[in-house]
Amino acid sequence: MENAAKIHPATSFEVHIPLNPTMHLTTSTENVKHVLITKFDNYPKGPLWRDNFADLLGEGIFNADGVAWKKQRKVASYEFSAKTLRTFMYDVFAKHSQQALSVMKTEKAASSSELVDCQEVFARYTLESIGVIGFGCSLGAFKDANVSASFGDAFNLATLHTADRFVDPIWKLKRLLQIGSEKKLSAAIRQIQSFCSKVIAERHQDKNLDEKADLLSRFMSMSKNSTSDVNRISSRGEEGGGELEFSDKELYYIIINFVLAGRDTTANSLTWTLWELSKEKNKGCVDKIREENRELRKDAGAGGEGLHDHDLISKSHYLKSVIYEGLRLHPPVPVDIKEAEKDDVLPDGTIVKSGERVMFLIWCMARQKDIWGDGAEDFKPERFLGEEGKFKAPEGETAGRCPRS
Ligand code: HEM
Repeated sequence: MENAAKIHPATSFEVHIPLNPTMHLTTSTENVKHVLITKFDNYPKGPLWRDNFADLLGEGIFNADGVAWKKQRKVASYEFSAKTLRTFMYDVFAKHSQQALSVMKTEKAASSSELVDCQEVFARYTLESIGVIGFGCSLGAFKDANVSASFGDAFNLATLHTADRFVDPIWKLKRLLQIGSEKKLSAAIRQIQSFCSKVIAERHQDKNLDEKADLLSRFMSMSKNSTSDVNRISSRGEEGGGELEFSDKELYYIIINFVLAGRDTTANSLTWTLWELSKEKNKGCVDKIREENRELRKDAGAGGEGLHDHDLISKSHYLKSVIYEGLRLHPPVPVDIKEAEKDDVLPDGTIVKSGERVMFLIWCMARQKDIWGDGAEDFKPERFLGEEGKFKAPEGETAGRCPRS
């Protein structure tokens, strides 16, 4: 795709896959803005996406369009903007980062010449963190060296075999006959469901539900107090959605969607950013992160180097720009697809017929000089720093659909 985007002079080109509608691949920022903002209602995820993910994700936020999406989006936007959840998420990630560090130090000690597989440690770190944030319970990812927690294994298998469906024209037949990858997928989903059903049933009995900060408890509490919460959330101006009651099945899918959305993306971005920082040529970036850390801690009267508390993180402009630069060059969602509901024309003149798909080549766009200027391919966090070294969000960031951004 990178080569195709380089060779092809235009900002969009077509790909034809037998038995599939035309796919328009694009590297135009105007086209992305058009699909994600201006004509948002005309570009849902679409039936292909929803069909392939339905067994794993049901009608959870990641796999929903229309009213089902709006209802969950409303609660998610409300909850993610609340300080309680933000602080809770920060505390969970901070606590587990200490555990991840001790895994790195003890299992394959830095003092020995053995290599540490940081990607694997990050996968365990985010699984454990999202487990606590999503369900309010440990998934056991730090208990042994192989992420052998059965939930983690089942979840990995389920996502792997769900992805297989996009390139397997006979997956529906295999599902009907319960053979091959579809048999494994069904078994993995059963395992995930049985774990989640138990957690949901236990949480119904929890007398402190309303005080709990994890997402499952928040959605359950919202559902329990549905009428007053509808008014509270509606007054924030979010559109659509209707009643905020959720059945146990809906709750299950909501949380599974959050696990999928938050786990690998976060592990992936940590891995790539660390990879960039470990390069000799980027050593200066590490020095600057440390310097900023020391300065902020000194101002706060803490001294030395170490983990920031929640307030200091928001003042870490350089660190934030490093994370953005890691995300820019190595986007955990490197391409994204939407499906046109009605005929449309993209800003670069591409004609998109109803049912055809538009794919953004996000990874390729990060390497384009016309978007990021000379040195687009370089790791340069300073591109996100504005006046007086303050972090400056890139233009159009609001196009983001991720509620945690
Ligand atoms: C580096 C980390 C992350 C990246 C790069 C990322 C990226 C994205 C992207 C690109 C989308 C839009 C997908 C689409 O509509 O086609 C998305 C949606 C979403 N993300 Fe994230 N995400 C990250 C972390 C998280 C975390 C930690 C959570 C939750 C705990 C989360 C929850 C969600 C949810 C619920 C959606 C669906 C939103 C909707 O459809 O309205 N994400 N994310």
